Amino acid sequence: MSAEIIDGKAFAAGLRGRVAEKVAELKAGHGITPGLAVVLVGEDPASQVYVRNKGRQTLEAGMTSFEHRLPADAPEAELLDLVARLNADPAVHGILVQLPLPGHMNENLVINAIAPEKDVDGFHVINAGRLATGQDAMVPCTPLGCLMLLRDRLGALSGLNAVVIGRSNIVGKPMAQLLLRESCTVTTAHSRTRDIAALCRSADILVAAIGRPGTITGEWIKPGATVIDVGINRVETPEGKTKLVGDVDFESAREVAGAITPVPGGVGPMTIACLLANTITACCRIHGLPDPEGLTAG
Ligand code: GUN
Repeated sequence: MSAEIIDGKAFAAGLRGRVAEKVAELKAGHGITPGLAVVLVGEDPASQVYVRNKGRQTLEAGMTSFEHRLPADAPEAELLDLVARLNADPAVHGILVQLPLPGHMNENLVINAIAPEKDVDGFHVINAGRLATGQDAMVPCTPLGCLMLLRDRLGALSGLNAVVIGRSNIVGKPMAQLLLRESCTVTTAHSRTRDIAALCRSADILVAAIGRPGTITGEWIKPGATVIDVGINRVETPEGKTKLVGDVDFESAREVAGAITPVPGGVGPMTIACLLANTITACCRIHGLPDPEGLTAG
């Protein structure tokens, strides 16, 4: 059996289309243009690519994009000052500070300085707490995108065994919270987990967010399981070029899984689409409007 390939690229394009419709509605009906501010500190090449893509897709959706760049040696106080100005700016509905930050900055301090209602990354401790306690939250974009793909493929997730590999604040922990909210039986695995292969073989839903290429092979996968690969790893090919691969060994996994996300073209495109959707949600909440319907599963 060969798994269904989950087309995250097409799904994300559809979501961006729904975002653009909602933006047009907010402009025409309320005179509101949703605005997203992205802050980049330093010149990390991967971060620069992400930030450029975010800016382009924000504009394509009809929203306002604000981009702020600080040098890698900027004092933390300068970044906090910028965040305070964005918090107070009525044209800004979403604020994203690109991570990682340079070593002299305290990431938690900076994230928690963002107004929770503008925290479209969902990283603020208030949003993490709201998600964990079942209250309306801004939900981190990558796990939100994974959940949308899972719901689209499986419908109701209630009662399914879900294994999330990885315990980061950006993916693993919020992913586990979202799956728990869907009434899955959730296990979070990590580098110290014993007999991780056997645990993975119990999973109807397997989410891999490890950051190591090709870690999960077909032998770790329950036949028919849905596999979501969050990994984006750049590796060298035998020809001396580079290519992107996931945390899952795609070729062996696709022989066993029922459905699987490819890398690239799976989870990756969903992250920015969900960021745009979160910005619309933030904009609606800030203006006292009801949450937009049908944008996200969050
Ligand atoms: N760095 C890698 N992923 C992310 C993300 O989702 N948000 C932010 N702010 N930084 C990141």
